[in-house]
Amino acid sequence: MAAPGRGGGGVSAPAAPRQGEAVTLDITSVASGGEGVGRSGDLVVFVPGAVPGDRVRARIAQMRPRYARADLLTVERPSPDRRPPPCPVWQRCGGCPLMPLSPAAQRRHKRARLIEALARIGGIAGVEVEEVLAAPAGPAGQPDLAYRAKAAMPVAAGPQGPIVGFYGRGSHRLVEASACPVTHPLARRVVAAVRDSLAPAGLAPYDEATGRGEVRHIVVRVGVGTGESMAVVVTRSPRPPGLDRLAEEVTARLADLTCLAHSVQPEATNRILGRGPARVLAGRDGIRERVGPLTLHLSPTSFFQVNPAAAEVLYARAVAELGPAGAGTVVDAHAGVGAIGLWAVAAGAERAVGFETVAAAVADARRNAAMNGLSAEFSLGPAEILYRRRWPAGEGPDAVVLDPPRAGCPSALLEGLRSAPPARLVYVSCAPETLARDLARLTAGGRFRLERVVPVDLFPQTAHLEAVAVLRRDR
Ligand SMILES: C[S@@+](CC[C@H](N)C(=O)[O-])C[C@H]1O[C@@H](n2cnc3c(N)ncnc32)[C@H](O)[C@@H]1O
Repeated sequence: MAAPGRGGGGVSAPAAPRQGEAVTLDITSVASGGEGVGRSGDLVVFVPGAVPGDRVRARIAQMRPRYARADLLTVERPSPDRRPPPCPVWQRCGGCPLMPLSPAAQRRHKRARLIEALARIGGIAGVEVEEVLAAPAGPAGQPDLAYRAKAAMPVAAGPQGPIVGFYGRGSHRLVEASACPVTHPLARRVVAAVRDSLAPAGLAPYDEATGRGEVRHIVVRVGVGTGESMAVVVTRSPRPPGLDRLAEEVTARLADLTCLAHSVQPEATNRILGRGPARVLAGRDGIRERVGPLTLHLSPTSFFQVNPAAAEVLYARAVAELGPAGAGTVVDAHAGVGAIGLWAVAAGAERAVGFETVAAAVADARRNAAMNGLSAEFSLGPAEILYRRRWPAGEGPDAVVLDPPRAGCPSALLEGLRSAPPARLVYVSCAPETLARDLARLTAGGRFRLERVVPVDLFPQTAHLEAVAVLRRDR
């Protein structure tokens, strides 16, 4: 069999390692999944648990035609950027693969990954990629910890009752993580109160293996700027007995909980919240959060950023980048609860036009426009259809902000933007790889010019990176 990752030319490269073989690797970068990346000859090797700057010994666990995965055996020479990870279960949990690196080094390597993805996938080189922006230090002085205002924690049976945590990397094995240091302290308190209320309410954790039990996840969201809090209990069946008792137990433990809701998720999939609306069991129908000039209502099933302090930095920059075009009509193409479009209006835009596919989020966005006294119109539906319906061809709106899920923008939306281009286009992305692909399509043939890319560290300790790409209509 030809060695994986080889060119097949006449110059002989060192033999590729075989499955099960131990190799020594210098780790030079971070992969999108957070693994350390090194090379053995010309074979790219991904090593979970290794970080850039490490020299490691690792055993090849999986051979693929163009790369390999290896299990870390020992760190022979630690990276100068290593520090003791501030979480006892970071290695088993797997949610924070960059935790062994100092925050400054994490940001350096994330920026390098963004530059690499732009070049490799988008063919984009030489564009200005700014240093990674981060949230300012909060009262606790640690912007990189305790930032997570939202967490969706699976529930499982433990030796002394239900436990909550996160699934270990690539598995459905729950790692107890109720003390997760990346999660906001109020969110941790809420999850613990709901967890401790399950047994007295007679609600057992759902067991995937046997199909027995009810409770799949506890989803928590807190308003960092308001102190409000909300929990959603996700069950397998629509009306399991015990929900009323659960509400009593939770409110007895947490008198200041703002909203307790119930969502039904019967599918055997990784989906967390059910497809239907969540039903309020106690308190109000959501919470409020403050970001920049806005107070936002967030209902149980609407998307909102997990790190509000860093989101504020992101939104402020995205809106500032709209420039003079941002004084006219601003389209918020993936609006969520309306944060970016409404912020643009608060900053001087005439009005926001928002598109969004989740009905509860559209309702929140309309409520948020009214609550903040801002001129905006939000429609339910996919941006790729609604944009083209409104601006079929020719003159586009003054400015458009894109903020799609990780999969990026469908071709129909990119084509719509090319045939009715706005003067200014700001693309907020949570996935450098799809950002690179979409920027290549938008700039093809000179329709838009990419001016700069501004990375923002919305998810410290993880490999995720948010970025704001700024484009101007060229012709
Ligand atoms: C990454 S979130 C951004 C939300 C918002 N801009 C914010 O910062 O809170 C992406 C949003 O796009 C919505 N969405 C997904 N597909 C969509 C589509 N085809 N058209 C419009 N919105 C969509 C999701 O429901 C989600 O609210």
